[in-house]
Amino acid sequence: MIRIKALVLAGGKGTRLRPITHTSAKQLVPIANKPILFYGLEAIRDAGIVDVGIIVGDTRREIEAAVGDGASFGLKVTYIRQDEPRGLAHAVAISEEYMGKEPFVMYLGDNLITGGISDFVAEFQKNKPNAQILLARVDNPSDFGVAELSEGRVARLEEKPEHPKSNLALVGVYMFDAEIFEATRSIEPSRRSELEITDAIQRLIDTDKDVRAHEVTGWWKDTGKLDDILEANRMILETVDRDIRGSVDPSCRIDGNVVIEEDAVIEGSVLRGPLVIGRGSRIVKSYIGPFTSIYYEVTVQNAEIEHSIILERSTIVNLGARMERSLVGKDVEIKKSATMPKAYRFMLGDASRIEVP
Ligand code: G1P
Repeated sequence: MIRIKALVLAGGKGTRLRPITHTSAKQLVPIANKPILFYGLEAIRDAGIVDVGIIVGDTRREIEAAVGDGASFGLKVTYIRQDEPRGLAHAVAISEEYMGKEPFVMYLGDNLITGGISDFVAEFQKNKPNAQILLARVDNPSDFGVAELSEGRVARLEEKPEHPKSNLALVGVYMFDAEIFEATRSIEPSRRSELEITDAIQRLIDTDKDVRAHEVTGWWKDTGKLDDILEANRMILETVDRDIRGSVDPSCRIDGNVVIEEDAVIEGSVLRGPLVIGRGSRIVKSYIGPFTSIYYEVTVQNAEIEHSIILERSTIVNLGARMERSLVGKDVEIKKSATMPKAYRFMLGDASRIEVP
């Protein structure tokens, strides 16, 4: 069997997730307390792949610190630097030397799919087409690359079309043989000034190469936007089992699938799963509701939180109303003010979003 490599894209600016992405890589936002990117790396490893090239940009230090040489995943990672986010096809083009002539799987680091990619990789190895794409039915095809099929074959692909011809979106997992490199050299930048992988694959179709499609069986999320991150968090939390390692005092009520990591302390609170509380976090006199992920060393006191993700070291104290469907960054402080007048007081980073009742 041929040895397949993987190309993982972990560059990009994450503009749709500002302000979180002013300081962090979007691929490292934790879903159920594990960075999005790690789910992809695990799926790649589970498909039997060892060699992984990771495309990195401005956030390369953070990505490199989190993934290292890949040994903790059972992978051999090589970093490939992209100077600017010039598109997915550009990322492919700059990885040509690393890939050599062998086929590879390309995985967008902000995509999450259940069920892994083993079947997808196996199908490619069996049929040996020039490219294989993965498709999912969506309600908002205009936000994605869209495929038009004809008699089971891929007839046309269009990137974010205004008038989509189908509801089949291109999932951010692709397989290519070395033909793709020539295709990336034959296309022009798109309206958003990027070299689109969708156009490169269309180029393969136009030059009579064998491009096949595979439909996803489970669920899939492109986590580029807040609602999709929260939805992905919900989907993953639905699969966790109860696991309580931290300390919980007897006055607490813990319902359902709740994960409490080491050194977390829960006092006088009600926790209704599925949810996860990270190591070293403290939850005091609070209610934490379903689909909430609280990362490490967070403090929540006299507050109610549901369907949200709170990142490391943030503090949420004495809230007058329940907080929901929120993503709170690192080292954030949210508290009720004791001073008059009764007014909202904010210190917000650029591109922050606040909704008040
Ligand atoms: C990219 C691709 C698009 C694909 C999507 C999947 O879009 O260009 O064809 O459907 O990933 O996540 P982007 O996230 O760059 O807007």
